Amino acid sequence: MTYTVEVEGLRKSFGDTVVLDGIDLRVARGTVAALLGPNGAGKTTTVKILSTLLRPEAGRVHVAGCDVLARPAEVRRRISLTGQHATVDEVLTGRENLVMMGRLRHLTKAAARERAGALLERFDLVEAADRRVATYSGGMARRLDIALGLVDDPAVLFLDEPTTGLDPRGRRDVWDTVGELAASGVTVLLTTQYLEEADRLADSISVLAGGRIAASGTADQLKALIGGETVELVLPDAGALASALSLAELRGYRARVADLSLHVPTDGTAAEVRELLEVVAGVPVLRVAVHRPTLDDVFLALTEQAVPA
Ligand SMILES: Nc1ncnc2c1ncn2[C@@H]1O[C@H](COP(=O)(O)OP(=O)(O)O)[C@@H](O)[C@H]1O
Ligand SMILES: [Mg+2]
Repeated sequence: MTYTVEVEGLRKSFGDTVVLDGIDLRVARGTVAALLGPNGAGKTTTVKILSTLLRPEAGRVHVAGCDVLARPAEVRRRISLTGQHATVDEVLTGRENLVMMGRLRHLTKAAARERAGALLERFDLVEAADRRVATYSGGMARRLDIALGLVDDPAVLFLDEPTTGLDPRGRRDVWDTVGELAASGVTVLLTTQYLEEADRLADSISVLAGGRIAASGTADQLKALIGGETVELVLPDAGALASALSLAELRGYRARVADLSLHVPTDGTAAEVRELLEVVAGVPVLRVAVHRPTLDDVFLALTEQAVPA
């Protein structure tokens, strides 16, 4: 198999703070990979190293067949990075932004116009093409931002939290865009704090926590890692929820709170489910459900911290 991104033993510190403590990552050509982790986990740091904006401290980092330290200019020619902060010019129209980027990337005027037209079509921005970007919705602006990264046909696309800050509609639009990119054969590495997003978009997921890749695989493989069944207890109010949580934690269960529910991973045996119900016997529980672990449960088990809301 050909890997477009190959990272081995990557380390990076800022001063005394070790951010990446030896991470390994591989992205097969033409696939979408997600680097999943909470705020501050080191996602942006990783993506910056892969796109030559930061130097690795140790480790081997190859992107599109080139070592990022030995051949940074070649890596830059083969990649595009769309960051958390948009690079579009709001005063210009969508089409003008794309043509300008094409000219910056040394396309002829005619080639830049043609490329802009093709990208506007591909990203469903034809109707808005000649309006100023200032009038675009968040999702449209983000799509244009991704399109700008594709002007010179990169082999690999880094998307750093492509949907953070978007409303649900904008998020869905960007999801569709990434899905189409994947179908077109571009290799994509995206970062996200959202399990649902990784589950939905990525062929493979690497969970970044504590400076290491805590686990990697498909969403199903990650879910299978923790095995068992998750017991969901639905409580009537916040007080009951807090009581149930502290009782469960006292007995060594690791529970996750979502709305007025407590999700508790168990081994799935009737004995353990019964034991858990006995632990919270003093608390009024409205309803009990048993389900397969979700990625949220996996995240809790791997990172020992709550999922960002
Ligand atoms: N240039 C820098 N100097 C010092 N610390 C930094 C720098 N960039 C990032 N950090 C720290 O590194 C950690 C990881 O940051 P980052 O890669 O931005 O995380 P993420 O993108 O996952 O939220 C954070 O603790 C952050 O404060
Ligand atoms: Mg970041």
